[in-house]
Amino acid sequence: MSLKPKESILKIQPYKAGLSKAKGLESVIKLSSNESPFGASSKAVEAYKQAADNLHRYPESSGLELREAIGEVYGLNPQKIVCGAGSDEIISFLCLAYAGEGDEVLYSEHGFLMYAIYAQTVGATPVKVPETGLATDVDAILSAVTDRTKIVFVANPNNPTGSFIPREEVGRLRGGLPDDVLLVLDAAYAEYVDDDEYMSGQDVVDFGSNTVMTRTFSKIYGLASLRIGWAYCPDAVVDVLNRVRGPFNISSAAIAAATAAVRDVEFVEKARQHNNTELKWLETEINQLGLEFCKSFGNFYMVKFPDREKSSHNAYKFLMEKGIITRKIDNYGLPEYLRITVGLKEDNQAVVKVLAEFVK
Ligand SMILES: Cc1ncc(COP(=O)(O)O)c(C=O)c1O
Repeated sequence: MSLKPKESILKIQPYKAGLSKAKGLESVIKLSSNESPFGASSKAVEAYKQAADNLHRYPESSGLELREAIGEVYGLNPQKIVCGAGSDEIISFLCLAYAGEGDEVLYSEHGFLMYAIYAQTVGATPVKVPETGLATDVDAILSAVTDRTKIVFVANPNNPTGSFIPREEVGRLRGGLPDDVLLVLDAAYAEYVDDDEYMSGQDVVDFGSNTVMTRTFSKIYGLASLRIGWAYCPDAVVDVLNRVRGPFNISSAAIAAATAAVRDVEFVEKARQHNNTELKWLETEINQLGLEFCKSFGNFYMVKFPDREKSSHNAYKFLMEKGIITRKIDNYGLPEYLRITVGLKEDNQAVVKVLAEFVK
């Protein structure tokens, strides 16, 4: 008899990360993983370097220093915060704790792929719910709920579509879900959103006992390599996550850097303003090329290439040959689109210039 993993594991399509190299080119513009073009705050880098003096020590188990800093900056109770090695790890813990064989985990049609992957790792069935106009459809989610539904994941704003559902819709979703279904509001891109209708989810968490908001330091804070994220949770979920997570699931270096990063509010504001200015510029420029730009509230956008000859795959190749790495999103059910991260001003200008050559 040969060694066999659980059947559900072999059904998983492994996640393909964005590329960072282009064949034959020494330098590239990497716009494939929604990373910050500004890198990390210099204060975070300094804190990271200082952490090198204590590499022989285990980290403080609960990330207390970081939870307190997040609490101060976001106005949250640190006792309701749990840190993870990226928000990915928190998503995996939630699946582990709340779903299993025979259960269903709901997510929207073009939602972040890790929801389905982590649901499968615990033997649960991921259920893809249709979207309307490339956005989460609350009614469709509510009508997809069954007795077996255990978790609903909503990325708000969503990656890769860039759309978000407004606060009333989030409230309507929570109100319509059974109390024993966990709603996870994944607000990885919350810091970028500039819209009065938007709510990251902390109010919904406070309102009940069955909603969690997840956040990350990988995007606007520019700490993707350190793998650090957090969740704001009801007390009972904090207790559950603290049972599931390893005692040292986040490193001292990540705690130190993220603590300095979250306190550097000026740095974050600069990144937010840059992103929003650039998104507006890109929208105008890309529309002027006769291409459809999908309005986005994150640090990325989708461009549609409906033409067979001028397809998304050809555009991807063309951009790659010029050293610009973007992301194909066929695996999100969006083969006609490319997803492109907002870069520095000159990166975005380079994208527009190359796309202009492409459509010529
Ligand atoms: C919507 C969404 N959620 C979660 C994540 C995971 O982020 P991390 O694990 O780096 O915190 C990403 C990363 O791209 C994302 O786009």
